[in-house]
Amino acid sequence: MARCLRPLFQRSGLMCPRTQPGELARVHSSQKQNPPDSEQTSLYIHWPFCLKRCSYCNFNKYIPRSVDNEVMTECLQQETRTLLQLSRVSQISSVFFGGGTPSLARASTVAAVLETVSAHARLCEHAEVTLEVNPAPAGRTALPDFLSAGVNRFSVGVQALNEASLRVLGRDHDPQQALQTLEEARTLCPGRVSVDVMFGIPGQSVASWESELEEVLRVCDDHVSLYQLTLERGTHLYKQVQQGEVSMPSDDVTASMYRSARKILEQAGFLQYEVSNFARQNAVSTHNLGYWRAQPYIGVGPGAHGRFVPRALGVAHREARTQTLEPDYWMREVQQHGHATRRRIQLSQLGLLEEVLVMGLRLTDGISHQHWAAFSPEADLHQVLGASADIQELQQRGILILDDRGLRCSWEGLALLDSILPVLLLELDTFFHTDMQMDRERSENP
Ligand SMILES: C[S@@+](CC[C@H](N)C(=O)[O-])C[C@H]1O[C@@H](n2cnc3c(N)ncnc32)[C@H](O)[C@@H]1O
Ligand code: SF4
Repeated sequence: MARCLRPLFQRSGLMCPRTQPGELARVHSSQKQNPPDSEQTSLYIHWPFCLKRCSYCNFNKYIPRSVDNEVMTECLQQETRTLLQLSRVSQISSVFFGGGTPSLARASTVAAVLETVSAHARLCEHAEVTLEVNPAPAGRTALPDFLSAGVNRFSVGVQALNEASLRVLGRDHDPQQALQTLEEARTLCPGRVSVDVMFGIPGQSVASWESELEEVLRVCDDHVSLYQLTLERGTHLYKQVQQGEVSMPSDDVTASMYRSARKILEQAGFLQYEVSNFARQNAVSTHNLGYWRAQPYIGVGPGAHGRFVPRALGVAHREARTQTLEPDYWMREVQQHGHATRRRIQLSQLGLLEEVLVMGLRLTDGISHQHWAAFSPEADLHQVLGASADIQELQQRGILILDDRGLRCSWEGLALLDSILPVLLLELDTFFHTDMQMDRERSENP
């Protein structure tokens, strides 16, 4: 559980183990059937290779001497085929190629995977197909080919537009290359380009962050993702901070950075729709919205995570699935078994509701009553949370709202989500183990 209660503003990407709410999965003793998975199933494809290790990154990525593109392509296709057949989903609503550095993959790999999807499920006509792009020249020159392969949205990892920050981060591009990549992506996909930018970087002040963000806003398209730099154990940056070579900005400074960024983005016409995500012209990421709305998704590739009902196995519950992390082992397992699912956890109704809370409250719209009812037909949000004194206190402080629309954080509350979530999760847990249990006993022994 602790893993989901990460410091705020951090990346909520769902493609790597560190940010997945998988640890919430728990098999409940009186297992109830999960709600039927909606038609909206998305697909995440992980390309695990990078050219260089960034100093802060603990994603599942490898810096290989060479990549066997043909075998990788065949295995990605094979695993896509197997998991689609296993899920029996008829329709895929979005595809996200993440990494690692998927812009280093061949466009023919992307095309092959998309063909496999279309052969085994209907890829919706207007499905969002995103590719993460690193601003190094190798990725930029291939953008037109990715577009021809079926990609219709680019997410560019700009991270910073300042030489010193890029050096601390160990990025393999300079600000100029980031700007060129952005320009090329916008020319190819106008209105469908997102940028990832980080704050809380060693050496950054609130003022320098504000002017950097202003610069990003002069060149960006209609979607911005802001992530507070997280110091991850095992990274080079972590070691540098431990040894006193660099220091991270204080919590007060990063909180100010977040606050001012929200205001600057709002003034520039961006609407915040999630803790870290901002869009104008309604350019929200439908793929990521699926995660925050706890919709099912299939994860393909080394270390990818998924959440879906494997109907072909006669299973009626959603499972949290993780694929084998290391690419060589992953490929071998896919070649031998058709997939490399390393871990399967059946999600209990409580586990699923925890995910609905943790993910849904990241959205500025929060969780509607209708959305909650799809996962919890027996008890509505007022019944589960409304009577708690702790939750009433959060409401009185003006950071949490429970009303006719549903449950959501206020503007101030969104910045405090990490301290709000434990209270909500505890209430949910208590309700499940007392009230629901009593109801069950009553219905079993009338
Ligand atoms: C894992 S990267 C993959 C995309 C691409 N390779 C890149 O680096 O731009 C996805 C995003 O996660 C974010 N990210 C990765 N590590 C992070 C960290 N330690 N703290 C905050 N954000 C991080 C970055 O903003 C990055 O754009
Ligand atoms: S390029 Fe992206 S995935 Fe690769 S090491 Fe850097 S941050 Fe991590």
